[in-house]
Amino acid sequence: MSRRYKILALIGDGIAEEIVPEAIKVLKVAEKTYGFNLEILGPYGFGAKYWVTHGMEMGCDPAVTEELIFEADGIFKGPVGLPEWIGKLPGPNLPVNLRPDLDVYANIRPCRLRPGVDSVLVGRQAGDIDYIVLRENTEQMYVGAGGFVSRAMETEIGLDVFVQTRKGCERVIKYGFELAQTGEYKGKRGAPADGKSRLTCCGKWGRCRGDELFKETYKEVAEEYPDVETDYAWIDAWSYWAIMKPDFYDVAVMPNQYGDIMSDMSGAIQGSMGLAGSLNAGDDHCYAEATHGSAPDIAGEGIANPTSIILSVGMMLNWIGDKRDDARLKAAYRGIDTAIDTVLTEGKIRTPDLKGINSTTQFGNAVAEIINTQNESNPFLSSP
Ligand code: IPM
Ligand code: MG
Repeated sequence: MSRRYKILALIGDGIAEEIVPEAIKVLKVAEKTYGFNLEILGPYGFGAKYWVTHGMEMGCDPAVTEELIFEADGIFKGPVGLPEWIGKLPGPNLPVNLRPDLDVYANIRPCRLRPGVDSVLVGRQAGDIDYIVLRENTEQMYVGAGGFVSRAMETEIGLDVFVQTRKGCERVIKYGFELAQTGEYKGKRGAPADGKSRLTCCGKWGRCRGDELFKETYKEVAEEYPDVETDYAWIDAWSYWAIMKPDFYDVAVMPNQYGDIMSDMSGAIQGSMGLAGSLNAGDDHCYAEATHGSAPDIAGEGIANPTSIILSVGMMLNWIGDKRDDARLKAAYRGIDTAIDTVLTEGKIRTPDLKGINSTTQFGNAVAEIINTQNESNPFLSSP
């Protein structure tokens, strides 16, 4: 009897209500095609709207217990936050807290120009851009150290302390070297320009001490990976070079906030934020989420591109497949990735962000139909 994987689904705000069901649809068809067994719990209400309407301490459906969060094989969530709720949130910031609590220290954000998608960079074709922004996910600006200082009832200082540790740097840098070695989550291993496996170390050493430590740690770790080419860039310069010569990059590892910013920029580089998958990965837990936000400007219209969340849950399956040594889940990830490429290449079904007229559901259906036809070529169907 094949083992059952527990997947916790959380909805979120805005377009989350439209895209999360498409991710669940894809998981269900992948489960059937690739012959594994998922127990999808939820999708449970969670996010800004939930906080305000329910006033929950945790900001989540009470069914989502701490125990459930920690025992799930994988978690995924839609984007959270709505402008009208800013300043009204009674609960703690669950989405960001999940990262340190689950210790998902590596945020993998691939940037791939897919077939059938117009590049915003003149002359770039599918395959020319295929790099990963690997964002450190638990430290630096996001440790939450800081506060306000007041004088005469006036807030005078808002203070944020950036913290980077050797352990935090070392583990994400190792993760980066391993991604470069394996080519995992990429269209093809190596940088598109020369096929070399390369890990670019980004930061602002010489200015920030935390980044000095990041770079020194990178140098030490690099010695264990002689087959991966080393490369260094100040983060400001990297934001230039990623646009000017994106094909040179394979994997770029960077401290937390830089990765936050560079992954949005990479959303543009790959043609739409709606195409950008993202996985928060640790040694024991993972959770998937779209890189983009809740897009209140188009929420409720049913036109959001669900690709980002679909790719993210695919990446989640891949992570679980690695950890539980289950090749069916890894095959399903590749199947989902290929299905997205097929729909984009055919170009018959497109959401408006890609100059199409189709709905979120139509796009999700098209992806699901393709995964359904992957049966014949799938070697894992007969596995127990
Ligand atoms: C992201 C988001 C989050 C972040 C926000 C919602 C707190 O921008 O996942 O990139 O800053 O990490
Ligand atoms: Mg962000």
